[in-house]
Amino acid sequence: MNDEILQQIQQVYGVENWSAGYFDINPQGHIIVRPAKNDPRFVDLKILVDDLLTKQKLQLPLLIRFPQLLTSQLRTLSNAYQTAIAQYAYEGQHYPVFPMKVNPRREVVEEFLRDSSRCRVGLECGSKAELYAAVAQDQTSESLLLCNGFKDEAFIKTALLAVQAGKRVTIIVEKLNELKMVIKLAQQTGVAPWIGLRAKLYSRGSGKWASSGGESAKFGLTTSELLDCVRLLKETKLDHRLKLLHFHIGSQITDIKRVKNAMKEAARVYAKLRQIGCQIEFLDIGGGLGVDYDGSQTRFESSVNYTVQEFANDVVYVIKSVCVDENVPQPNLVTESGRFMTAYHTVFITSIRDEIETFAQDKPVVTIDDDDPQVITELKDLCDGINGKNYAEYYHDALEHKDELHTQFNLGLISLEDRAKGEVLFWESCARALKESEAENFPDDEFEALKKILAQKYLCNFSLFRSAPDSWAIKQLFPIVPIHRLNEAPSDYATLVDVTCDSDGKIDKFVDLKDVKETLELHKWKDGEDYYLGIFLTGAYQEVMGSHHNLFGHPNEAQVVIDNDGRYHVTKVVPGSRINDMLLFARYDKAQLLESYRKQLAVRVEAGALSRETAEQLASEYEAGAGKGTYLE
Ligand SMILES: Cc1ncc(COP(=O)(O)O)c(C=O)c1O
Repeated sequence: MNDEILQQIQQVYGVENWSAGYFDINPQGHIIVRPAKNDPRFVDLKILVDDLLTKQKLQLPLLIRFPQLLTSQLRTLSNAYQTAIAQYAYEGQHYPVFPMKVNPRREVVEEFLRDSSRCRVGLECGSKAELYAAVAQDQTSESLLLCNGFKDEAFIKTALLAVQAGKRVTIIVEKLNELKMVIKLAQQTGVAPWIGLRAKLYSRGSGKWASSGGESAKFGLTTSELLDCVRLLKETKLDHRLKLLHFHIGSQITDIKRVKNAMKEAARVYAKLRQIGCQIEFLDIGGGLGVDYDGSQTRFESSVNYTVQEFANDVVYVIKSVCVDENVPQPNLVTESGRFMTAYHTVFITSIRDEIETFAQDKPVVTIDDDDPQVITELKDLCDGINGKNYAEYYHDALEHKDELHTQFNLGLISLEDRAKGEVLFWESCARALKESEAENFPDDEFEALKKILAQKYLCNFSLFRSAPDSWAIKQLFPIVPIHRLNEAPSDYATLVDVTCDSDGKIDKFVDLKDVKETLELHKWKDGEDYYLGIFLTGAYQEVMGSHHNLFGHPNEAQVVIDNDGRYHVTKVVPGSRINDMLLFARYDKAQLLESYRKQLAVRVEAGALSRETAEQLASEYEAGAGKGTYLE
């Protein structure tokens, strides 16, 4: 591929900035995926998608899961802590734990546990359902099973089942009443779990989740509640079971300074608890380790201004310093970095299905007649006269003429045809002014806004609410890149809309190194041509937070691994939801629906509006429809 084009493509999509070494572009202009950072083996994503569509007979949209990226991220995390521990001669060990809320899929949890013996990875559960799944997983004897979140007796009893199965269960107390329940059940059953206390820190994170920390955080015990818990444990002679102190100041901490501050405060709390006789062995620092979604390495909400090594170094160094200062043992360090562990491992593939026509795209050729109103002939002159010097002035004039056009229409002075002509001329003037503005290094903001208005709007076959809900809910940016044609420079600007009947089902914010782009550069798309877009870094939270808006269901899913010879294997295919699945979700009964439809047909047959055979055929068609997928075919 031509070096100049590659450079341009890298600048436009920034793949090397956000890919963390997993994604790249090959000479054919296709995106490739590596099983580990900078591994020489790779899979060509375009060839893989073509294979999945033809050989596996899957349809888009597609979620492709690369479990090897989970293992790779876990190892990266673990290695970063091992390196920091060695560098600072830290006396505790690192215990990575996977918080199931981030992606509770069986494939994800099992993949992490497969690597458990190498780095003692454990699980964190925040609900009874997560705990129920976790209880039966194979864990090594060293690995932890942490119970977070609000608990009732049933939750605690399930945790005790896990204790009986020999697991290192730690019930992390969020409220004094929870501790009372744990003590009561431990006394009744004679089975005592390890106990953890979750502290509410004064320190806060940064970015979108800053309010998860600080004094008004939803979770955690205040200082006096912490002391009440310690007193209660001592009174009931269960203080020897208090093993862990936990805090979490929020997901995706964008600024490393906040991490250091929180570590200082938490390490002091730990030290003071040790000094009053609590034999705490583990300090659980929660999550917060962020992912650089836009590759800018800044404090911007979709980025982070640190590396995983810097994060681990700061955690280890600060905690060690405080422990030395306070003369207490250095605790084992538990991390719950789910986002970092999972974000990279899925790529979501959708395709452009159609173009949404807007006024700006409505471009029939306009010819001026002698009897055309003045406002139209003037617009035509403006349009024809735009050049590199006058484009801003002429654009402003065109705006005034558009207002005049609509005023005259509302007063009944011009016809519908005149209005149509005027609108076409106005948008053509805008397009010409925008083109001239692009020659400037720093075009005025109004032309940036115009770029968005004039951008193509492509209809893509997916539901934003199902597959990238954070893009809608919290304006999270995900890298979006065509997975092919990257050996050609893109020539269009576009925003994307999904297939839901919701105006919010659109993506009009895209990653950029310096800012947020309001349009995405894409290649010219022709109706009937395949054009696949990958939405990357969707492995954390998106699958579980996604909803069934408009009854769009799960996309088809394929799990892919790359073997030692560099060949890829589709190890699992999970068909997407059928219409019937979504009917059940909305509590319809398929048989009852069919019966009801048949009754309506029978009335029509009775009235002579339909033949019996046609009615039978229609009923069969209706019945077969329930087995179809929910997305566009
Ligand atoms: C207690 C706890 N641990 C871990 C996490 C995961 O954090 P992260 O998204 O930074 O991986 C969360 C998520 O907010 C959490 O609430």
